[in-house]
Amino acid sequence: MMKFLLKLLCLIVTFTTTHAWGKEGHEIVANLAWSFLSNATQAKISDLLGFTTSPACEGCSPLAVIADWADAVRHTQRYQWTAPLHYIDVRDDLIPSGCPARVKDTMDERCHFDYVRDCPQDFCVAGSIVNYTNILMTTANHNASVEALKFLTHFVGDIHQPLHASRTTDRGGNSIHVSFDGEDHFVISGRDRRHSQRHLRGGHLHAKTLHGIWDDDIIEKAIDRDFQGSRVMFEEFLQAWLKTNKDYVHQWMACPVGSSQACTSLWGEESFHYAIEWAYRNVDGSEILDGDVLSDEYQQTRRPIVQQRLAAGGLRLAVTLEMALYGKALQSDSFLGE
Ligand SMILES: *[C@@H]1O[C@H](CO)[C@@H](O)[C@H](O)[C@H]1NC(C)=O
Ligand SMILES: *[C@@H]1O[C@H](CO)[C@@H](O)[C@H](O)[C@H]1NC(C)=O
Ligand SMILES: *[C@@H]1O[C@H](CO)[C@@H](O)[C@H](O)[C@H]1NC(C)=O
Repeated sequence: MMKFLLKLLCLIVTFTTTHAWGKEGHEIVANLAWSFLSNATQAKISDLLGFTTSPACEGCSPLAVIADWADAVRHTQRYQWTAPLHYIDVRDDLIPSGCPARVKDTMDERCHFDYVRDCPQDFCVAGSIVNYTNILMTTANHNASVEALKFLTHFVGDIHQPLHASRTTDRGGNSIHVSFDGEDHFVISGRDRRHSQRHLRGGHLHAKTLHGIWDDDIIEKAIDRDFQGSRVMFEEFLQAWLKTNKDYVHQWMACPVGSSQACTSLWGEESFHYAIEWAYRNVDGSEILDGDVLSDEYQQTRRPIVQQRLAAGGLRLAVTLEMALYGKALQSDSFLGE
């Protein structure tokens, strides 16, 4: 009976709109970035934030402690205007045949991130990264610097989540409700389960969406299955992975600074392509539809994409912060040991 009621409740509670990588995804990007920064820049960040550790966040660098702040405040009156700064809506609604899931080479040429069309008045994540990088570089106001650092850390993570630069028509996968094979159709994702009481009262309980699976579930399942539930071990794995996959590193380092709109546009474009080719597309090549049940194979084959996006985000955040706070171009040998 309880289970039935819970299901019913899940069905009727309004689904919340776009989220970011979950808290864990943002912490991973921030901790990776931190590990690549020079000591001088690390010290500058600790100084700005006024702390070096936080009891509330185990295994977190100062950067990881603040990585999720932008999500926490976006529902407050003061910051609700920032909601569109977390994502890119590629206007597939303006394209007659839309942007169906398919492999990259066969996509309609209008299906790509067009800054002028898809980022009005710079109000999208590709614009907000440039904005907050510039603020961090130029402002003399302490509070403005802290705020810019918090936004920047979060948004560089967001733009690397494929479904944060994806189709308008399904709200970045937020209108596509899915479940994993073998799980209850309306299970609440891991993070929400732990907070379900609070969420119930707050009216924020939401069913699983394709968007949420890319924010949270793929990462959580990877950590639970292969890293004994330890986010820190997963981060160490990604660091080691980078050292043996230098081709990726060099590719990501080709345009790594957040002050450049050309670079942030490229990051958004990459995410959009991953969304069309890997997130929206099922293992048999078909479009994922509302109500679909996803296989374990989907999760396993998409996981490398998620890992690459987290690593790319960490790397580019490090380069951007090093440049903005220290005026130095971070070289790949500093973290590859070349
Ligand atoms: C940076 O700090 C670490 C540990 O705090 C230290 O081992 C290392 O020598 C420092 N590097 C430089 C270049 O000062
Ligand atoms: C840039 O940052 C300022 C200060 O927070 C804000 O007023 C403005 O709306 C931001 N613009 C974008 C595109 O992020
Ligand atoms: C900076 O932020 C702190 C805490 O939010 C606030 O108390 C203070 O008045 C702010 N200072 C300025 C100059 O805005």
